[in-house]
Amino acid sequence: MPVDAKKLVKKASQHLKPVEKLDCETKRNTTTEGETITFNYMWATHLTDDDFEWVFSLFKSNMLEMYQKSQWGYDENSKRNELRATTSRFIIAINSKGEKIGYTTYRFVVDHNIPVTYCWELQILPSYQNKGVGGMMLDTLEKLSAKTNMEKVMATVFLFNGASLGFFHKNGYVSDATCPSDDSGLDYAILSKDTPNQ
Ligand SMILES: CC(C)(COP(=O)(O)OP(=O)(O)OC[C@H]1O[C@@H](n2cnc3c(N)ncnc32)[C@H](O)[C@@H]1OP(=O)(O)O)[C@@H](O)C(=O)NCCC(=O)NCCS
Repeated sequence: MPVDAKKLVKKASQHLKPVEKLDCETKRNTTTEGETITFNYMWATHLTDDDFEWVFSLFKSNMLEMYQKSQWGYDENSKRNELRATTSRFIIAINSKGEKIGYTTYRFVVDHNIPVTYCWELQILPSYQNKGVGGMMLDTLEKLSAKTNMEKVMATVFLFNGASLGFFHKNGYVSDATCPSDDSGLDYAILSKDTPNQ
């Protein structure tokens, strides 16, 4: 593995408040209905137990059916551990009433020798979907990727999750070089968007 990739990921992962420190917050903060959204940023290890249970319950209500029908299946304990991993970072979206309405969890990782920002989960409450909030959080991840010298933002999406595939494509994500081929028989795609201005 190139030393640089490892070093860059280590450096990015060490920032306690990367979005604030590197000034990466999206400039888009209004939903399509004109509501102002604010964002909280934290390491997974700094989430309160209540926040973590909210994170997990939104994951479960949005995704349980999809995981159950996927080739991966659903393993609650392993998903909980994944979301709380020491390398996981969170962006939580808050509405104008102060309620949590969605989140993304991401990690800086070396993927196939390349330093990347991996969008691990992106979950929006059904009542706030399709109002621009997911796009705002991707925008922040892309800015963060540029400022930390990650080469791309990546995400894994089930092939049967049409809304999510549509969302990522709309935001400029394409099939990654590491995406399983059409004839692989696998039920997920690996998408990515190159980081500009490096
Ligand atoms: C997928 C998800 C994260 C997107 O976030 P969001 O806040 O709803 O997305 P945004 O409002 O920023 O953008 C939605 C865009 O995607 C497009 N889109 C949504 N569903 C689509 C579909 N089925 N086909 C094509 N495009 C679609 C919309 O046209 C919209 O673009 P527009 O704003 O130009 O009209 C969110 O809907 C969600 O949480 N879904 C359930 C959980 C999930 O699937 N998470 C992703 C796991 S990989």
